[in-house]
Amino acid sequence: MRIFHTAAELRAALAGETGTALVPTMGNLHAGHVSLVELAKQHGSPVVASIFVNPLQFGAGEDFEHYPRTLAADCDKLAAAGCDIVFAPDATEVYPVPQTFTVQVADSLANDLCGAFRPGHFNGVATVVLKLFNLVQPRVAAFGKKDFQQLLVIREMVRQFNLPIGILAGDTQREADGLAMSSRNGYLSPSERARAPALQRELAAIAAAVRAGDREYEALCGAAARHLEMAGWDVDYIALRDAASLRPVDAATRRAVALGAARLGKTRLIDNLEIALGNPL
Ligand code: PAJ
Repeated sequence: MRIFHTAAELRAALAGETGTALVPTMGNLHAGHVSLVELAKQHGSPVVASIFVNPLQFGAGEDFEHYPRTLAADCDKLAAAGCDIVFAPDATEVYPVPQTFTVQVADSLANDLCGAFRPGHFNGVATVVLKLFNLVQPRVAAFGKKDFQQLLVIREMVRQFNLPIGILAGDTQREADGLAMSSRNGYLSPSERARAPALQRELAAIAAAVRAGDREYEALCGAAARHLEMAGWDVDYIALRDAASLRPVDAATRRAVALGAARLGKTRLIDNLEIALGNPL
């Protein structure tokens, strides 16, 4: 596995490649990231994993400074997973000049759900992912369903800018107790960690009720949010949406998704669960 820190080295190594598979990450890798490398390997070669904590997608007062940077351990995991190239650039390599041109995600997607609580976040994500796409020029790129709204933003960007890149979606990898793996789980105190699977359990309860025919979506989401608040969480949102569009579920919805974001102490966790709606509503 080769590790590059500059765009020039990366470009030279990838010259002539037409089947590259990219896995963009911010590092502090866990089994969720590794599963994306494995998915990417099935669809392209060489596999490039990028590790870059992107300042543009963090808001004031968020965890950019404290985000865990663990390059050596990350490279061990990537090598074991069969990754071919790691691209770990410095900020000056990705942003050599102040980034005054940015990708503007449609308000309906950028300001909804997580975007309503993290202004500018998805513009920052889309901008750095477009840069990574241009630097690596992959044929396919893998993203996790764990960040469901991010996956939709990337898919839509690829479609609307006619980017010749296939987007692969990887299933959410979980700890044994159901908690979705996340680099931010490391922020949790032992007692918060013990309570953290409640977010996933509340989404599973919504999914079970919907599968059983309950169509009182607002009441179901409201009850889940109340349970979490009573257990000491600060809930940003709990919502049920159409999985293809993230718009409210309607008669045409075939696949729904229950999504939630909530804070335990200082740590903001997100999760989601897809729900097949067998019968038209
Ligand atoms: P990061 O949070 O490091 O996640 C990198 C990729 O791993 C994303 O596609 C994310 O959805 C996926 N991922 C995270 N947890 C996962 C889990 N438990 N199971 C499966 N996949 C999981 O997402 C980002 O970085 C950044 O926004 C990025 C796309 C790199 C742009 O900066």
